[in-house]
Amino acid sequence: MKREQWNSQLGFLLAAIGSAIGLGNIWRFSYMAYSNGGGAFLIPYITALLTAGVALLILEFGIGHERIGSAPLAYAKIRKSWEWMGWWSVTFVMFGICLYYSVIISWCLNYFFYSFGLIWGDDPNQFFFQTFLSLTDGPDDIGNIRIRILTGALVVWGLNWFIVFRGLGRGIELANKIFMPLLFILMTILVLWSLFLEGAIEGVKAYLKPDFSVLLKPKVWIDAYSQIFFTLSLGFGIMIAYSSYLPRKANLSRNALLTGIINSGFSLFSGFAVFAVLGFMAVSQEIPISKVVSQSIGLAFVAYPKAVSLMPGGQIFGAIFFFSLIIAGLSSSISIVEAFSSSVVDKFAIPKKGIVTILCLFGFLGSIIFTTQGGLFWLDIADHFLTHYGLVVVGIAECILAGWLFDLYIIRKHINRISSLKLGRWWEFSIRYFIPFVLSVIVIWDLYHEITSPYEGYSWFSIISIGMGWLLGTLVTALILSFKPWKNPRILNI
Ligand code: ALA
Repeated sequence: MKREQWNSQLGFLLAAIGSAIGLGNIWRFSYMAYSNGGGAFLIPYITALLTAGVALLILEFGIGHERIGSAPLAYAKIRKSWEWMGWWSVTFVMFGICLYYSVIISWCLNYFFYSFGLIWGDDPNQFFFQTFLSLTDGPDDIGNIRIRILTGALVVWGLNWFIVFRGLGRGIELANKIFMPLLFILMTILVLWSLFLEGAIEGVKAYLKPDFSVLLKPKVWIDAYSQIFFTLSLGFGIMIAYSSYLPRKANLSRNALLTGIINSGFSLFSGFAVFAVLGFMAVSQEIPISKVVSQSIGLAFVAYPKAVSLMPGGQIFGAIFFFSLIIAGLSSSISIVEAFSSSVVDKFAIPKKGIVTILCLFGFLGSIIFTTQGGLFWLDIADHFLTHYGLVVVGIAECILAGWLFDLYIIRKHINRISSLKLGRWWEFSIRYFIPFVLSVIVIWDLYHEITSPYEGYSWFSIISIGMGWLLGTLVTALILSFKPWKNPRILNI
């Protein structure tokens, strides 16, 4: 089967940026920054981007392009015994992250419509947690399915299916060519609008004023590194698959740098809108910014609606905000579906359209658990474990595989031969020593704290069954997939 190809390098770049820019940049980044000292979070965040993010992104582009394959195939072509690692990454991302990710897009879809009538009323906090989610007491009690959220998830999976089913050029590439410019325009409108609100300047001050004391807290650094992984879609297997669809001559390192800068630039930019709005709310309600939101995970769904109700023309502001989240989210969720289906096509040579259909069907079914009344707890635990352990462990594994079990110089030489931005020895040093070291410290520190105090005070039972269960379940699936024979073993030849 002939490998699909992007129609243009710009198409590839927009798709990579589309995958990177997602809910993580607006929903996750803002609550991470909010709960980690506001502006102070920018220091570890930018450090993580520069010390690990860009170098790993270059590595993922390099692996996919040099080995020409989705994550399992590219890993297998480096070392056959490591194929399972590629499967594990695409499996826990597809059947873990993407399941709750789509449900958050479904919340946004609902909130998009709610915006026009300001349905949340005077108390958006009560509306979000009680009326909309109808949250139970904890993850052990999942309650009933929330039909509105389920319906939204069905629409999201339908859209995921529709876009990926159309193929690379007419589906993903075209969608990103529309989504990305639209997203930048909408975000600019939101930022400008929010900066003119009364009190905006207070919010911006809180955003940019560094509180150096939080830098002493390891959690802030851990959150920053895990956010960089999430936001650049590192360890997802996406960037490997995406670069495998490039023609033989492609400017890999420049595209990686552009993706990293544009993605984080977008987060920093949208942070202005988020914090300006928080400032506006603080001033209109005469309370300190730190008291504006009670639960950081609900920031986008509590603080924003509240502000929207208070500002003139808020309905339109709210609709633009949630619409932006929807397109940012979709451009990422389609990349996850693509990364998994591309892996299956490589290994089992099954026609892609069939795979995409089955995958989206199972994806929708898997999302159902997160549409229940206890769904938010499940989401919180799954997100913590999959991003803090899954993605970071895959990151370490990538560095070991490419840096220690392979001649990394081959990848550097390949990248330098075709890219305008030449990589020096620093890059090899970073992949071989620095990144695995930093990531290992993070995992060990995280694990230590996990054991001494269970995440967010959840019961051990929930943590083990949901968090660890998800990691282990997908690992077993990955091992099974990797033991299956290749339909066309010649594909493994370099
Ligand atoms: N990179 C995507 C995001 O940040 C997954 O939402």
